[in-house]
Amino acid sequence: ADPEPVQDFCVAAATNGSADHPSYPGFPCKPASAVVSDDFFFAGLARSGAADAAESPFGSSVTSGNVAAFPGLNTLGVSINRVDLAPGGVNPLHSHPRAAELVHVVTGQMLVGFVSTAGTFYSKVVREGESFVIPRGMVHFQFNTGKEAARAVTVFNSQLPGVVLAAPSLFGADPEIPDAVLSKSFQVDGEIIKLLKSKFRT
Ligand code: GLV
Ligand code: MN
Repeated sequence: ADPEPVQDFCVAAATNGSADHPSYPGFPCKPASAVVSDDFFFAGLARSGAADAAESPFGSSVTSGNVAAFPGLNTLGVSINRVDLAPGGVNPLHSHPRAAELVHVVTGQMLVGFVSTAGTFYSKVVREGESFVIPRGMVHFQFNTGKEAARAVTVFNSQLPGVVLAAPSLFGADPEIPDAVLSKSFQVDGEIIKLLKSKFRT
């Protein structure tokens, strides 16, 4: 989904771990004469997120390998994440405005699903070695349906897919969306909105 590259590579000179890009497309290039093999290498997904998943209220941990973490991806139109799920854990409902997502299960099993613009829910229990694809922009999740920890690698056709977390974007926005707007939109009374805000406003 990203623009086509116009040179072999353009290792990001500096992202400071931030997705706040100063130029389009992507980040300014480091001089080619300064580029080394390590610029095309990323070890961030080698670390297990299983302990973090077990501690998180959602039972999940996502380690990002987008351009902010892996500067060599700049202008290449791809990125990768690691998703660890404790038993019963969920990577909660979210969407990526700039990329399709390929979910490849490495360990365990998980229900992976998305909802299309027609409102159809497509889902599948995906097991070790199997894959499922989430079309760009669709709201989706992964839910561990097994008794053991589960792990997936997710791959995107963007260096910076972006994440819109469904619940936090609505109930945790800063400044907050007025209760009246949420209450009318969801057709529930204000108490329910206040309860939801209490979960997602930090
Ligand atoms: C999983 O849905 C991910 O975005 O890595
Ligand atoms: Mn995703």
